[in-house]
Amino acid sequence: MSGELLVVEDIHKAFGDLKVLKGISLAVAKRERKVIIGPSGTGKSTLLRCINRLTRPDRGKVWLDGVEITDSKKQISKIRQQIGMVFQHFNLFVHLSALDNVRVGLTDVKRMEKKEAVQKAMEVLDRVGLTDKKNYYPAELSGGQQQRVGIARAMAMDPKLILFDEPTSALDPELIGEVLNVMEELAGEGTTMLVVTHEMGFARTICDEIIFMEGGEILEQGPPEQFFTRPKNERTKRFLHKITELYGHGGEG
Ligand SMILES: Nc1ncnc2c1ncn2[C@@H]1O[C@H](COP(=O)(O)OP(=O)(O)OP(=O)(O)O)[C@@H](O)[C@H]1O
Ligand SMILES: [Mg+2]
Repeated sequence: MSGELLVVEDIHKAFGDLKVLKGISLAVAKRERKVIIGPSGTGKSTLLRCINRLTRPDRGKVWLDGVEITDSKKQISKIRQQIGMVFQHFNLFVHLSALDNVRVGLTDVKRMEKKEAVQKAMEVLDRVGLTDKKNYYPAELSGGQQQRVGIARAMAMDPKLILFDEPTSALDPELIGEVLNVMEELAGEGTTMLVVTHEMGFARTICDEIIFMEGGEILEQGPPEQFFTRPKNERTKRFLHKITELYGHGGEG
């Protein structure tokens, strides 16, 4: 387990009779980027939610930096400060400006002085190219801009790891690139990332390992080169084929 920043061990989760996660184990080392792919309803979001404790797993454990965070005695807010989350539908505070969306976690959760927090929020907004939009409200921003605010909000907390749950799948195609560019920059800076996405170009070029989930289990995982050119599992092959049809670029290019 040493060297790993995030360790997920044998996570199970059911909603009533529906067994959604059936024993998921994975690990992400510091500075590593891993991508999770898999059909709809397979438990990808549930898995991310179990990692940052938005959902409580029925069984299994999660460690962050050697500390077991599934332990109910651990403070949830402490854990969430260390794990950033970027959502498909941005989940911004609609009544706060872009700047305040990024600043609020710093003052209200991290208890940073307002002046210092504003300065930090400005720096991060600058990194995602939104300095000129700092006073805009979410409704006044495009989807791509809103998602860049969402990423800035996660970055501002200096988390140990950022989870991304289909960060581009609610965006119009022409806006996807600006969000992927920001994510690529983060990856280049050594940010530890666990990303659920169907953007196979991103997966192929940026990530260290692809994890294919189906029916609440990990069916196959491996480095992108091997995964795309020599998938072992028939179901992986079929899924890659389908995703190529849907998104037009399965990873062959
Ligand atoms: N809070 C909940 N209560 C009941 N069922 C839930 C809950 N959350 C998720 N589920 C069910 O668990 C299954 C897995 O959902 P989940 O959102 O994790 O899938 P997913 O792989 O992220 O799918 P998608 O690709 O469509 O986002 C689905 O059948 C879903 O309806
Ligand atoms: Mg999902």
